[in-house]
Amino acid sequence: MTSPSYEPFLPGADLPRFARELTEFVDLNEGDVAAIRRTAPLVLAQETAFTAALYEHFLKFPLAARFFLGEDGTPDMARLERRRHSLGRWLRETAEAALTHDFGYYLLSVGLAHSHRAHGPGGIVPAHLMVGAMSLAQTALAQLFTSKLDDAREALAASMAWNKLLLVHLNVLLLGYLGPPRERRPA
Ligand code: HEM
Repeated sequence: MTSPSYEPFLPGADLPRFARELTEFVDLNEGDVAAIRRTAPLVLAQETAFTAALYEHFLKFPLAARFFLGEDGTPDMARLERRRHSLGRWLRETAEAALTHDFGYYLLSVGLAHSHRAHGPGGIVPAHLMVGAMSLAQTALAQLFTSKLDDAREALAASMAWNKLLLVHLNVLLLGYLGPPRERRPA
């Protein structure tokens, strides 16, 4: 049996297609989108606590804290405040679960801000911390749904749906690190 043909493309040149293909691949379906939108108010009610906890967590680890230190080696509060704000924006837009053209390019630019712009004594944020941060976000959301939703099945459905969406985001955030997917063809 021959597989259907597939024409590779540069993700940055057609981000909506990249996001759409990934969305289909991870089976982020209409039911998931509905679950994300249903639970969005729950998540957004925790936005401030959620983003503050994430940055507090970063500061506990020298590996991650170095991106938020000022010249005197202490946490740069202004930078942290900006970060909380921009993370909040990402969370609010994520809660809409709308992988629009503009949002895709916004995500790409956020990824490039990490992969290509040096920050504090840390320099460029390494890719494994981006993956780690997404794991922290997934865990925090799963804990939130388990604690706030009485119906365990609804909590599980919400976690699964958000997980799918967050990893689609992560793939876009990592494009600046990975470059275009390399096609390996037999010689
Ligand atoms: C879930 C993964 C992450 C998301 C969604 C995220 C989100 C964002 C956003 C929206 C911005 C603003 C980008 C801009 O100004 O264009 C930003 C900037 C930044 N992020 Fe992240 N981030 C993530 C992970 C991390 C990690 C793991 C670190 C380092 C430990 C980090 C450190 C920074 C720094 C240092 C800046 C720029 C700070 C400044 O304003 O000078 N981020 N992030």
